[in-house]
Amino acid sequence: MEYGCRDKVVVISGGTSGIGLAAARAFWRDGAIVSIVGRDSAKGMKALAAIAGCKDPEAAVFPGLPEGTDTLSAAEGLAGDGSGTRDSSVPGTTEELARLRYIRADVTKPADCRMAAAIAAYYGKDRIDILVNSAGMYQEKRIENISVADYNRIMDVNVKGTLLMIQACQPYMLPHGETETGAAEETGSAAEEMAVAGSAGPGTAQDRCIVNIASDAGIGGNYGCPVYCASKGAVVSLTKALALDFAPDIRVNCICPGDVDTPLLTAQLAAAKGGYTKEEMGDGYPLGRIAAAEEVAHVICSVASPANSFMTGAVVPVDGGLTAMG
Ligand SMILES: NC(=O)c1ccc[n+]([C@@H]2O[C@H](COP(=O)([O-])OP(=O)(O)OC[C@H]3O[C@@H](n4cnc5c(N)ncnc54)[C@H](OP(=O)(O)O)[C@@H]3O)[C@@H](O)[C@H]2O)c1
Repeated sequence: MEYGCRDKVVVISGGTSGIGLAAARAFWRDGAIVSIVGRDSAKGMKALAAIAGCKDPEAAVFPGLPEGTDTLSAAEGLAGDGSGTRDSSVPGTTEELARLRYIRADVTKPADCRMAAAIAAYYGKDRIDILVNSAGMYQEKRIENISVADYNRIMDVNVKGTLLMIQACQPYMLPHGETETGAAEETGSAAEEMAVAGSAGPGTAQDRCIVNIASDAGIGGNYGCPVYCASKGAVVSLTKALALDFAPDIRVNCICPGDVDTPLLTAQLAAAKGGYTKEEMGDGYPLGRIAAAEEVAHVICSVASPANSFMTGAVVPVDGGLTAMG
């Protein structure tokens, strides 16, 4: 699938797992320069291997993060096994692998967010074009059982983390006046041609985009997870407010997935201790199933695509018709 994101500099918080990882793979395959951000570097290494298309990401050979640094590109991580031999299961060229990078950072910490933005921008020639805020957590707890620590943990990651990443990345997202017609003319994909024809001009505001991942629970509420719902409602409101504040420089939109088959959902099922299954969750949807991460990733890339130059402040459900039921 082509989204017209060749050479775009993309930062994805939560890009080491689930929806964020699927979006990272789609952007990378589209030719973007992608940085994935998460706390757990082992998870980050496996994510690089999975995105790069290693036959067995679990077995991929990595040197780990070099001493004193918080970042590693897939080229550095996957290019050899320490003896200088290239891992033959890695399909990408060294150049392609160099467009894919892991950054270790905790989005609840302002300094980590600033560091992640600076590293991504450094490798993106001093700019960031697209920020996807997918780092998030879920907790099912009725209000009578919620502690202040529970509240702080969910709000910290889902709301403060989104805000801090935006604060850190925004300075690198303001237009620097560069033109991007060259790349569009060179590759001439349908999406790139539409982007050039449909935008107010190449390299302008409409090329810079933030995509926040909220939830159907942020629009319609849900049973048994009031703080999660509140956190995602806050992300919806933050999206609309920043779409106004950042116009016309940066588009800001928000995706609201229903249930998606990711490690987050696996953990949710485990915490419910057999109370319900994936299939039973799917039965509640007009489409009769829950989503795959790739289906949400496709919408993220479509919303971020420069071809989508007139959408800002939008809240987009990707929920198999769930919220349409009212
Ligand atoms: N799956 C669903 O059914 C569903 C439905 C609606 C909305 N969503 C939302 O979609 C987003 C992605 O969910 P997912 O299902 O893909 O979850 P996931 O598979 O559990 O991935 C979550 C990602 O967030 C990162 N993360 C968590 N806390 C972080 C922190 N403090 N700093 C940096 N990174 C952090 C994790 O990496 P580390 O652990 O290494 O930090 C991981 O990469 C979340 O915002 C979630 O609320 C999910």
